[in-house]
Amino acid sequence: MCQERVAFPFPIVDMSTTVIRRPPLVGLGTFNRFQDADAVGEAVSVAIRAGYRHFDCASLYGNEKAVGKAFAAALKAGEVTRDQLYVVSKLWCSDAAPEDVEAACRKTLDDLGLEYLDNYTMHWPVQMTKDSKVVDGKHEFSIVHQGDRKALAATWRAMEALVDAGLVRSLGVSNFDVRMLGELMQDCKIAPISNQFEMHPFLPQRELVAYCEKANVHVVAYSPLGMGGPRSPQDPDLLGDSLVKHIAGEVGKSPAQVLLRWALQRGASAIPKSLTPERIVQNRDVLDWALSSSQMERLDSLDIGYRFIEVPYFNFDQRPPSNVNTAPPGQALVKEGYVDEYGFYRNYFAREGKELRTEVIIRRGLLEPDELASNGRHLLPEKCWAAPIHVVTDEAVSALYGDQVVEGLTAAGFQVHKVVIETDVDESGETSTEHFKTVESLMRCSDLILERGITKHSAIVSLGGGVVNNLAGVLAGMLYRGITLVHLPTTTMSAFDAALDFKQAINHSLGKNLLGCYYPATTIAIDPDCLATLSERHSLNGVGEALKHGLTQSVELTDMIVRPLREGDPFKVIKDGAYMERLCRAALEIKAPTLDDYNNSDFNEFCPQYGHAIAHSVEHMSWSSKAHQPLLHGEAVAIGMCVSAEVAFLKGVCTRQVVDQHYDLVGATGLPTYVPRTMDIGPLIRQMRFDKHTVKNPTMGLVAQIGGMAMAPSGESYAFDASEAELTAAFEANMKRRDEDNVCGSCASIFATEIPTVPAPGAPAASSSDSGAAASPAADGSQIMSINSFVGHLGKELKLFGM
Ligand code: A2P
Repeated sequence: MCQERVAFPFPIVDMSTTVIRRPPLVGLGTFNRFQDADAVGEAVSVAIRAGYRHFDCASLYGNEKAVGKAFAAALKAGEVTRDQLYVVSKLWCSDAAPEDVEAACRKTLDDLGLEYLDNYTMHWPVQMTKDSKVVDGKHEFSIVHQGDRKALAATWRAMEALVDAGLVRSLGVSNFDVRMLGELMQDCKIAPISNQFEMHPFLPQRELVAYCEKANVHVVAYSPLGMGGPRSPQDPDLLGDSLVKHIAGEVGKSPAQVLLRWALQRGASAIPKSLTPERIVQNRDVLDWALSSSQMERLDSLDIGYRFIEVPYFNFDQRPPSNVNTAPPGQALVKEGYVDEYGFYRNYFAREGKELRTEVIIRRGLLEPDELASNGRHLLPEKCWAAPIHVVTDEAVSALYGDQVVEGLTAAGFQVHKVVIETDVDESGETSTEHFKTVESLMRCSDLILERGITKHSAIVSLGGGVVNNLAGVLAGMLYRGITLVHLPTTTMSAFDAALDFKQAINHSLGKNLLGCYYPATTIAIDPDCLATLSERHSLNGVGEALKHGLTQSVELTDMIVRPLREGDPFKVIKDGAYMERLCRAALEIKAPTLDDYNNSDFNEFCPQYGHAIAHSVEHMSWSSKAHQPLLHGEAVAIGMCVSAEVAFLKGVCTRQVVDQHYDLVGATGLPTYVPRTMDIGPLIRQMRFDKHTVKNPTMGLVAQIGGMAMAPSGESYAFDASEAELTAAFEANMKRRDEDNVCGSCASIFATEIPTVPAPGAPAASSSDSGAAASPAADGSQIMSINSFVGHLGKELKLFGM
């Protein structure tokens, strides 16, 4: 599960060669604390010989004359040409009055001995009075404004005039935050191509970097080494940090090189300062090797929000609010409405929808405590790492896997709470949480979670079958209007089918799955070994759902499911983690495209619903009175697929051979193929009218040959309308086979010729699409949602609206 992400592509593309040149990736910083200008000039000479082309200067530094001498010498000696150099200088705050800008730029050009600058950068979003100066290394200043939008725009206009006059090739900003950069992007004619700010693993500036990337503003990282030696004694030691040193050892580079490469791999240029020739050379040797994604991630974890550069004239944390309305680049400030022909004022607002995207991970042993301890972080997005995590599970699953998951995630560094929903034994004789898939459970869970505490970065981790996954999904979509959701499915029904969707729902007393939302899990992580503790019946329950994708879409998948069960010992096969892993992957791979392209064709609706129009009716009836033996959802689907094949034959969509193949293939898995003897055709067809696919007549997808759906005669749809006469004949054909076969009326399962009928204590019958249950429930002593007053009366009036 802890797969390396795709390594950062390298070499990194150096944009400094494009038409509007971006700063080259490594530059030399030239600030030397107002001291020894000649030493800086010497460093520039060394750097040019070492291959540096990017020099970060500023009039404030008081050394531009010495730097200019070094340029002149190198140009004269032919070590470099002017167009190979990329020289940045900065407009100091006391020159920010628009009328002073050009003179300041010309002075810098004079000092540097250059005709133009490659980039002229506004040093700070601050204006000082003209007489402000540095005396003995200390600033003596008065502030005119800090971050004032109008004033910054006025200074910028004067800087733009420098581009028009040919004195500078491009413009940049420095120490601008998201707001100020956004405002400037709106106000400018010539956009800044760079924003220079402090950035290193102790201060990764994620939001600002992301914003710059979006706004196409190149990031230049200053103090990328955390100031090296001259930092204050109270400052943390970035170059000496043990993780940085450890990674340096791993890649055989120096800590400084690791920090510089980290900045480059985040898309930035870096401008380390150094007066030491070996270090100057070393700092440029960061272009032809890479840190792995896991090394990047480990460095990312060093974020402590530490700023080495604090200045008396600008407070990063208490900036005055903007005095003008603001909006980020590309966004209108005001959206005007209009008055229509009837005199109604009209306007609208809209937003692109939340992306529906879920990552799925399948790996045997994933839920082992050691595995979770080392890889658990990869299950949750980084934003959740420091927030409380709530594992929602049911009693049966909790007894088997609850503690190990909590233990593993805790060892991975999470703050984990467990919420356990009750389980009981339902009428089918299997453990089930279906009775608790209710509004009451939802409210009890949310009370508990809110009391224990969440933040907007918290996550719900659902550990269990479809019922738990579904209820937890609604919870996650609802709490704080949507927090992160991760599913850990523990049943075949859920792992092969139910969890693989964006739908999350709970039951209402008027019907199943009537309350819910489309809310994507960030991740679904499946450990196929967990499926081994399911009862045989529950194991096969999900196999029925996987088989529908085989029959409608793939001969190979059908064979992958059926052959091992037919040829081996079925009891062993369904306990075999490798078999389950293959099915998990195959079911996902065939279902994923139907979810990706769901809106493109009704193929994507009718494949996953194959057999369901009939199955819902058979399933419902089996739970509706004691006259019948309750069927699990996958069992009803198995019967539904065989009856659907009969419908297809009657409609001339497939041959008799395809119908025979259905009975053979479904039967070989051990799933039932015949409508139970206790059921009559009339009530079954009547019940079908409640199906959501019934318009005038029940509508369904049909199979033309194993592995292929039939296209309806219109040529555009996969929907077939089945008349009452066709349905009657199809049911009759199925029942005739059953009688000739002389098979037990309720189920042809290899596991149960008689499905036990166990009345659920006090609870009305519920349709069990996926109980989420494992073999033997046991209380584990943790906090249990005890919901004695089950009011979801899903009994005789239950209308099945589908999964
Ligand atoms: P020196 O000038 O003695 O080489 P930053 O650019 O992050 O503010 O860091 C600059 C400081 O880091 C300078 O004091 C510089 O010292 C030191 N430095 C620069 N390169 C290296 C390096 N490769 N290894 C250790 N320290 C370095």
